[in-house]
Amino acid sequence: MQNTVLILDFGSQYTQLIARRVRELNIYCEIYPYHHIPENLSDFKAVILSGSPFSTRAEDAPHPDLSDIKGKLPVLAVCYGAQYLAHFHGGSVEPSNIREYGRAKLSAIKADEPLFKDISEGTQVWMSHSDTIAELPTNGVRLASTKDVLNAAYRVEGEETYGIQFHPEVYHTTEGKQVLQNFLVTIAGVEQSWTPAAFVDTTVESLKEQIGDGKVVLGLSGGVDSTVAAILLHKAIGNNLYCIFVNNGLLRKNEFTDVLHQYKDMGLNVKGVDASARFLDALEGEKDPEAKRKAIGRVFIEVFDDEAHLVEDVDWLGQGTIYPDVIESVSVNGPSVTIKSHHNVGGLPDYMKLKVVEPLRMLFKDEVRRVGAEMGIDKKLLGRHPFPGPGLAIRILGDITAEKVRILQEVDHIFIQGLRDWNLYDSVWQAGAMLLPVQSVGVMGDERTYESVVALRAVESTDGMTADWVNLPYEFLQETSNHIINRVKGVNRVVYDISSKPPATIEWE
Ligand code: XMP
Repeated sequence: MQNTVLILDFGSQYTQLIARRVRELNIYCEIYPYHHIPENLSDFKAVILSGSPFSTRAEDAPHPDLSDIKGKLPVLAVCYGAQYLAHFHGGSVEPSNIREYGRAKLSAIKADEPLFKDISEGTQVWMSHSDTIAELPTNGVRLASTKDVLNAAYRVEGEETYGIQFHPEVYHTTEGKQVLQNFLVTIAGVEQSWTPAAFVDTTVESLKEQIGDGKVVLGLSGGVDSTVAAILLHKAIGNNLYCIFVNNGLLRKNEFTDVLHQYKDMGLNVKGVDASARFLDALEGEKDPEAKRKAIGRVFIEVFDDEAHLVEDVDWLGQGTIYPDVIESVSVNGPSVTIKSHHNVGGLPDYMKLKVVEPLRMLFKDEVRRVGAEMGIDKKLLGRHPFPGPGLAIRILGDITAEKVRILQEVDHIFIQGLRDWNLYDSVWQAGAMLLPVQSVGVMGDERTYESVVALRAVESTDGMTADWVNLPYEFLQETSNHIINRVKGVNRVVYDISSKPPATIEWE
């Protein structure tokens, strides 16, 4: 894609944040690990070098050959990047006496420099490094300092090469976005034309070209990603997109019929397949969480495969993969250890031999939502909480029966509907109920009962990696608990989960 910015990742925890900030400026960018610099650099208008946990002086630190980049394309080198350029191009980097970490004020700013256009003297920046640039690279010109860091920013005379030791992508750098804009727009001349509407247009065009008259099968899950992927594909190839929505019997109450209708109303060519019995059979007597996930993953692939074979001459599999998964799999450090095996809908069995098309593989989650809104997808659907692929199976602790599923569906429905009625749904990132393998004593009328306990869980989070429990109003919890106990036969006790992640997780299994 033309007008693209290349972000070279040296392994910083902030690299994804750089990408998000760039995209917030309506500029398209892609992250590449430092050891996979793209061969064809002509697509890129500018390059940003990220930070890194390494010291550039260490032998095993990232030391890529930047000779096709430095001096040829506009470069903004951040933190490690800035030190790397100094270290290998005539300057020097030394350990700093104090660890430069946290907020600092940028001073002695050269106001007439385009990098600092509209940046105020004394502006707050975020530092995070233990090395410092003692001498600037050859032809280096100092552009700003802080109290502890003399060479906080520099440029190289005769090139469009800039180095900054602070992190413009972090919110604590108050005018960081302006610095990025100055570099990308004023210095590198990149256009700010990457909007959701532009994304839809270019993606639909390229999908048309890629797929032609081919047929695509895609598994819909009711979630945001698969839905947005389906609508994009549908715009490109119409009814040559065959969507399959599988009821695994572990969805929320009424979810299968409601969502299926919604999909049909959107004009999608979708087939609903009720395979509840097949899933319940495969889960019978199974108590172990990982074994449950594996069984569900296996049956899903079998069902999907049977259905896909009914579509004649299909050659593509559509998937709702998004950018964080892609970056994860090619990142500097390789895929991180998965703590739970996540079996997302749409896994590709090898023997299907289909080509894969992933229209969202370059988007972050919030961008997927914006693209969805641009295409007119219902707000309620786009704002839905995440829901795990194995569904209620991992919220019923222990073995699963049809009766337990029914009980949990009722409880979950009361809880979620309550959140909507109390206008709390949108301020919660994810919510659900767990059916515990515990019976407790209660009284109902004159009788002693011995029935199930359910736990309610509502968390706030941005990506599910960390989460905290939500401080829901007592009155709401009181009303919800009453409704559940009065209306759901088989439950006589409700508790609320007040654990954060880590050390707990969001799901209980
Ligand atoms: P945990 O429980 O690991 O959950 O804190 C983090 C996020 O992942 C979802 N989750 C899953 N999603 N298949 C999925 O598609 C799974 O097996 C699975 N397990 C957990 C969970 O709902 C939360 O959003």
